[in-house]
Amino acid sequence: MTKSQVSSSNRLWYRDAIIYQVHPKSFYDANDDGYGDFAGLIEKLPYIRNLGVDCIWLLPFFPSPLRDDGFDVADYTSVNPTYGHLNDAVRFIEESHRHGLKVITEFVVNHTSDQHPWFQAARSAPKGSPERDFYVWSDSNEKFPDTRIIFTDTETSNWTWDPVAEQYYWHRFFSHQPDLNFDNPAVREAVLKVMRFWLDRGVDGLRLDAIPYLVEREGTNCENLPETHAVIKELRRELDKHYKDRMFLAEANQWPDDVIQYFGDSDECHMCYHFPVMPRIYMAVHKEDYEPVVKIMRETPEIPADCQWAVFLRNHDELTLEMVTEEERAYMYHAYAPDPQMRINVGIRRRLAPLLDNDKNRIKLLNGILFSLPGTPIIYYGDEIGMGENIYLDDRNGVRTPMQWSADRNAGFSRAAFERLYSAPINNPVFGYQSVNVEAQEQDISSLLYWTRAIINVRRQTKVFSRGAIEFFEPANKKILAYVRSFEGKTILCVFNLAKTAQSVDLDLSAYRGFTPVELMGESRFNRISEWPYVLTFAPHSFYWLQLVPEEIS
Ligand code: NOJ
Repeated sequence: MTKSQVSSSNRLWYRDAIIYQVHPKSFYDANDDGYGDFAGLIEKLPYIRNLGVDCIWLLPFFPSPLRDDGFDVADYTSVNPTYGHLNDAVRFIEESHRHGLKVITEFVVNHTSDQHPWFQAARSAPKGSPERDFYVWSDSNEKFPDTRIIFTDTETSNWTWDPVAEQYYWHRFFSHQPDLNFDNPAVREAVLKVMRFWLDRGVDGLRLDAIPYLVEREGTNCENLPETHAVIKELRRELDKHYKDRMFLAEANQWPDDVIQYFGDSDECHMCYHFPVMPRIYMAVHKEDYEPVVKIMRETPEIPADCQWAVFLRNHDELTLEMVTEEERAYMYHAYAPDPQMRINVGIRRRLAPLLDNDKNRIKLLNGILFSLPGTPIIYYGDEIGMGENIYLDDRNGVRTPMQWSADRNAGFSRAAFERLYSAPINNPVFGYQSVNVEAQEQDISSLLYWTRAIINVRRQTKVFSRGAIEFFEPANKKILAYVRSFEGKTILCVFNLAKTAQSVDLDLSAYRGFTPVELMGESRFNRISEWPYVLTFAPHSFYWLQLVPEEIS
């Protein structure tokens, strides 16, 4: 355990956290080579801390051919020299802790890069040798036929022929990302070693990338298998045995019933993303109907008391549409990706602000929902200032452009020659860095940045949002999403106008007769609740978080 880990022991920190997701490459370039780096991230820690978040989730920073933006790892225990050295990564973890921020890093062990020495050794070692056995090989490409392809735009099979090995190797993602063979105890031992390496350097949480696909079995779809869960339990046993206050976050893009298996009996992952609710938030707003959100939340089973959902609106990938029906997918494409260039694989490669037509009210509305649903919210870097996208960049790179710090050259991200930048910053009249940047928004109290800080601040005042129960209303006006969150005697009514027109709603709040609703952003007191239906009126796309204060206190 490092010194910084000893400081404050709070085993359930992840349940009350707010996470900021960032790529070292994209944040700030401290050495003028056109790429962000650890030194740059360290310089910008006060900005992240001032947002009010508690935790940074760092995208992969390991040596890699970067054909999947670092999710193609060629060496698990060092740092891509473009971003710094191992010492810089460790310094970043320590500095983050000094700023009161936890750090989550990527644990990408379903697959490696084909450039990883394990794969290079495997392909030239004899069939059946311990080296070859690190990966999943076959003489034919017909095994596991019931397994879907994930990257449908690039891959046509989960098998690729290797001319050196003279066998096919298995891969769930790009063909340059062979899957490790978790049936081999030597692989599991090697992976545990990688895990210990980063935990020993002070990392607080590991995001278990692509976790449903660890083990393959004939006659199944090779997802969520009991053997895969057994591997995760083994990792968790090791974690619990040697470390305190650390956390696993499962990336399992599955339906709620399958995802909750990754919490296990509190003996697998502490957190799982809630993938299915995300597209349904967008759908509800576009349809002006609460139903998609209410339905999926009702279908979401209870989770163990020390576990937590991770909720998000956007991230570094496409807005995935895997967890919706075909009809819903068609609706989402029509509503949010009218230009085919906006689509990739089974999803939409766009950022939050352009998805919502740069409409500040709608951006706030979606965040208001996100920050009040059960779970730990994640903010994708740049969304707090409403950054735009470039749908003409390859793969998902259009949502990974440099952070826009100021109207200066290269968006204040780097002092390198423009041509050296890993990617051009967004530069169009609406979302360009000249108009959308941190410096300008720091000077504008009506900016999205100010608002984001304010809502985070409100959320941090109470554990109702992070720990409370949720109960939905079903108002006759279906354009109003309404639910009550409650925890330890405190109750917050969250009401959202999903419509682009002004609305009113009658809510049966008779259970709270005599209580006074107090709006949490501005602390205004509303009319006291009586036995009659409670009437609320809304401007277009507006919302309230109302604490229901009992008579004796109000
Ligand atoms: C999930 C990551 O989020 C994505 O960016 C990556 O391409 C795949 N895993 C494959 O590693």
